[in-house]
Amino acid sequence: MTDEEYLQKARDAARNAYCPYSDFPVGAVAVAEDGELYFGCNVENASYGLTICAERAAIFNAVSAGNKKIKLLATTCLKGDKSLPNSLMSCGACRQVISEFLTNDGRILVDGVGVFTMEEYLPLALKLPAKG
Ligand code: THU
Repeated sequence: MTDEEYLQKARDAARNAYCPYSDFPVGAVAVAEDGELYFGCNVENASYGLTICAERAAIFNAVSAGNKKIKLLATTCLKGDKSLPNSLMSCGACRQVISEFLTNDGRILVDGVGVFTMEEYLPLALKLPAKG
């Protein structure tokens, strides 16, 4: 699949967003190393802090299915402002979660902005030392 096709899948996923509070639908697709696709959208709650972002929903779907190696994460903010790239980006919490599972040569596609490596998306991400 092409990058544009992955972005289209993310846009499709965003249509499932449950975002009555923000009216800001976000969609994501996590592509595992074996090519399997896992989808995510933001799911909000009346208790705002319980909201889960689309990127984390997609990655948690992949991990829940036993797929822990993500080679590509495509994300889209349907109501982001194309003239304000920051309105299209993933939050810091999601970047840290992406960094846990993205393969070394993995890429992040941000709809309307461009393609990033993990180091570009979150420099100096937290990584714990080996145990013991
Ligand atoms: N949101 C995401 O889904 N991903 C992000 O990386 C940033 C924000 C959602 C959370 C909330 O439902 C809405 O966008 C507005 O912040």
